[in-house]
Amino acid sequence: MDDVRDEILDLFDADETVLHLNPGAFGMVPRAVRTVQRRWAERIEQNPLRFFRLECQEELARVRLDVARFLDADADSIALVRNVSEATGIVLDAVGVGPGDEVVVSNHGYPTIAQAALVRGAEVVVANFGIDATDDEIAQAFREQVGERTKLVVVDQITSPTALVLPVAKVVQAVGDTPVFVDAAHSAGTLDLDIAALGAAFWATNLHKWCFTPRGTGALWVTADWRERARPAVTSWTSEKGFPASHDFPGTIDFTGMLAIAEGLEFWRAHGGLQIAERSRQLLSIGSELVHRRVAMALPDAMPDYDASWPARTAPTMRIIPLPDGAVSEPGDVSALYAALSGRGVECPPVAFEGMGLVRLGAGLHNDELDYDRYAEALVAELGRRFDDY
Ligand SMILES: Cc1ncc(COP(=O)(O)O)c(C=O)c1O
Repeated sequence: MDDVRDEILDLFDADETVLHLNPGAFGMVPRAVRTVQRRWAERIEQNPLRFFRLECQEELARVRLDVARFLDADADSIALVRNVSEATGIVLDAVGVGPGDEVVVSNHGYPTIAQAALVRGAEVVVANFGIDATDDEIAQAFREQVGERTKLVVVDQITSPTALVLPVAKVVQAVGDTPVFVDAAHSAGTLDLDIAALGAAFWATNLHKWCFTPRGTGALWVTADWRERARPAVTSWTSEKGFPASHDFPGTIDFTGMLAIAEGLEFWRAHGGLQIAERSRQLLSIGSELVHRRVAMALPDAMPDYDASWPARTAPTMRIIPLPDGAVSEPGDVSALYAALSGRGVECPPVAFEGMGLVRLGAGLHNDELDYDRYAEALVAELGRRFDDY
């Protein structure tokens, strides 16, 4: 076993016998960050009343400013949220999505947004485009779905099932005056950000995916025109403070995760900042070819052709490769294959997208080339059980 890999996994107390190849799904929280979080818990318990009455608001305001600085955004534009799901509800309510309205999402979009629109009685309209679509084709796909009833357009900056970086600014331009919400769940810590330059009305990220912060930490950016209407998901006695301070305190909850954000961001910086993502990009370009080659050797008739530069607009820290035809064709195949791989200590779920079976490989600080070899071995073994001609 590789010493460097194990040393890094040890920083997270992650199980070294498990292959962690999807680190951005729910994030990985370093021990140092959890220690700071625990210290906050202990400090709060020493005198809860004093903490909540005298210290909490100031501490949270400080965290919010740290996050704004980290995202290179104006202090007035960034609110603390627990996650992108929470931000989604805030955004839909800010624009007043309700019965009779349409919300445009894409066929690569994360399903929560469509659900949030549906529960508010709106209709969901889908902009369809392929994995190889050009910037113009993607912008056009969104524009074609915008009509008189469109209340909001939602574009994922990095897509979840396909790990593509979408041309957000072009989509914003293409849809004219319709407000755009950018689901940037995977963006913080992986992309060089200029949020305001995108021209969108709303942008939300998770910090807990790629920034080593505790789970339940994210940020919502809102352009000046919409701030008054972007009210907190939970109304508390601080709601009258207005955006963004009104989002700091959704009543009495466990704030220790928020209070340890700075430590997570410091871990990110200390380990290379955006260079972590650049290293991941290079590793995934090698790893994806390696996995494909091994599966194609084992199942030559079932494996689609593949070019190692595919897909051209891949995200830096995640990358898709095709699975053999028929590998995940039945409902339930994705979960069954994931469960089988997880049973072998391999954490990297397959994905079904538009009838196509894919694997979304990820890469984090702790991964190396050998990990993709191990993954290929497990995948070939599991797929082999499913194909007669193996
Ligand atoms: C693109 C995208 N949007 C939203 C989410 C939701 O994130 P959370 O569950 O932290 O709210 C995810 C989670 O994986 C995602 O990938």
